[in-house]
Amino acid sequence: MTETVDPVAPPPAEAPAAEARHSRRRRPTGEPSMAREPDYQTGRPTKIAIVGVGMVGSTFAYTLLLSGIASEIVLIDANHERAEGEAMDLNHAVPFAHPTKICAGEYADCEGAAITVIAAGVGQRPGETRLELVKRNAAIFGQIVPRVAEANPEGIIVVATNPVDVLTYVTLNLAGLPAHRVFGSGTILDTARFRYMLSEHLGVDPRSVHAYIIGEHGDSEVPVWSLANVAGMRLPSFCAENGIPLSPDTMERIFRQTRDAAYEIISRKGASYYAVAAGLMRITEAILRDQNTVLSISSLVTDYYGIDNICLSLPTVISRRGIERVLRLDLSPREARGVRKSAEVLRQTIESLEVAAATDPA
Ligand SMILES: NC(=O)c1ccc[n+]([C@@H]2O[C@H](COP(=O)([O-])OP(=O)(O)OC[C@H]3O[C@@H](n4cnc5c(N)ncnc54)[C@H](O)[C@@H]3O)[C@@H](O)[C@H]2O)c1
Repeated sequence: MTETVDPVAPPPAEAPAAEARHSRRRRPTGEPSMAREPDYQTGRPTKIAIVGVGMVGSTFAYTLLLSGIASEIVLIDANHERAEGEAMDLNHAVPFAHPTKICAGEYADCEGAAITVIAAGVGQRPGETRLELVKRNAAIFGQIVPRVAEANPEGIIVVATNPVDVLTYVTLNLAGLPAHRVFGSGTILDTARFRYMLSEHLGVDPRSVHAYIIGEHGDSEVPVWSLANVAGMRLPSFCAENGIPLSPDTMERIFRQTRDAAYEIISRKGASYYAVAAGLMRITEAILRDQNTVLSISSLVTDYYGIDNICLSLPTVISRRGIERVLRLDLSPREARGVRKSAEVLRQTIESLEVAAATDPA
């Protein structure tokens, strides 16, 4: 007959070996499951905090759980009940995934997180541009960022909320952290969409298509056609060699589908979240595994084609430190004009935000 053991009763005093074996006793029902050890490569804990666990934040948390890369995930939301519900649901997936400690928390729980991802805010309404969201979401960031930075002055902050470039700039100012530890998801999603659209046209795996969208994550974003390649072959040679059309109309169609993808998805299902969550996951992996991966994220750009003190996306090397370096692409004259225009659009938004803040009676 099997002996029945109370999982929460103290071990018997006369059994030191068993005590050692059972020192990690089961937690009472409802408590988070056991955290993993710190990352074996870096020796650091792999706690990730997520502020805003709506569609984007919770999908990222789920992706993170399935990846097994985090030892602890803290979910923070103005709607604390929602964060609790997400934590419960995610914890129930742990037996199918990886031992991960997941809980709903407060800002103080950002302490010790390697990365805090901010996906809090109000979503884009159908037909609304990302820049029109700015005032609503900047005010929300005023409540969030100082508390995250205070709880975790050593960590990295990754912004996902739109308009992501402006909010990355706002975060940089509010957080007072070094610029290499504050960045936005930027055009990581647009670049993925561009590579996907190109892969469909070219008939190769999107992972073998090397092409970037730079500038604003939004209407003024810029496709870098001049440097796009497959196996080092520029697209005109690749297409000529393989009998694939690459007319200006085709290029315009591929770019339009890339740029307008968010509008198309939102008009059909109300929000987009799987692909951006996968992008946030890729950023997280690059940081935690110290991979020096090149990703098009949004960061503070200075002295580039006349652009200064604006957050926008360029291919950027990401490691455990955060931003290692921003790659200053040699652009065609048309692309350079495009990225300057992007910077101008973003500058005007930041200025209008500053004017609004200065004249706000509150
Ligand atoms: N960067 C990208 O590529 C990309 C892609 C898709 C969506 N987004 C953006 O991500 C953001 C979130 O989108 P979503 O679909 O998850 O929206 P959502 O409405 O589902 O979730 C937003 C969450 O933020 C929370 N929140 C609001 N104010 C808060 C505050 N002051 N403190 C803490 N939490 C607060 C809400 O309670 C909600 O749970 C939006 O701005 C959206 O445009 C970005």
